[in-house]
Amino acid sequence: MPETARPSPWVLRFALLVPAGAAVLDLACGSGRHAGLFLERGHPVCAVDRDPARLRELPPAPGLEVVQADLEDGSPWPLGERRFAAVVVTNYLHRPLFPAILAALAPQGLLIYETFARGNEVLGRPTCSDHLLAAGELLEVVEGRLQVVAYEHGRVERPRPAIIQRLCAIAGPAPVALPD
Ligand SMILES: C[S@@+](CC[C@H](N)C(=O)[O-])C[C@H]1O[C@@H](n2cnc3c(N)ncnc32)[C@H](O)[C@@H]1O
Repeated sequence: MPETARPSPWVLRFALLVPAGAAVLDLACGSGRHAGLFLERGHPVCAVDRDPARLRELPPAPGLEVVQADLEDGSPWPLGERRFAAVVVTNYLHRPLFPAILAALAPQGLLIYETFARGNEVLGRPTCSDHLLAAGELLEVVEGRLQVVAYEHGRVERPRPAIIQRLCAIAGPAPVALPD
């Protein structure tokens, strides 16, 4: 399996914090590398993408719900009032969605986010500032709303050189047991 098709180490690490059997939202899921991870771990998964065709590569799983939706065309948030024990967003950024993403977290819900940040434009795609986080931006998004469990911002070499920012934060005050 190509490295880009494997789950992100960041998501793998914090997946351990999601309570057994609790529902997970994989937003802009692509081929479902994280939907597949959580399905394997026994979670029901709602996978949203405007082009969910690549999810067909996942093994059939009764816990998988696929929602086809364009998240940027001005339509209402496709998931209504639904709440999830974890919302996973990787390699995708559409800033107007931040309020809906936070609102989709159940009490004690986890936001696991990882995407490209400014400086990436000299290394590869994405290059447009609309798709690149500013330093500290994810921290600002969750400030006063979620408790930050972990945050990183910097250059990675794998699966390819990139500038990324990543955050795990929880919708509740209780300390979490940090995974290794
Ligand atoms: C770079 S891929 C990331 C896929 C996945 N999250 C991952 O990390 O493997 C970005 C995904 O965002 C989806 N996407 C882009 N624009 C979208 C939109 N307007 N509405 C819904 N999904 C969108 C694409 O179809 C694609 O699957």
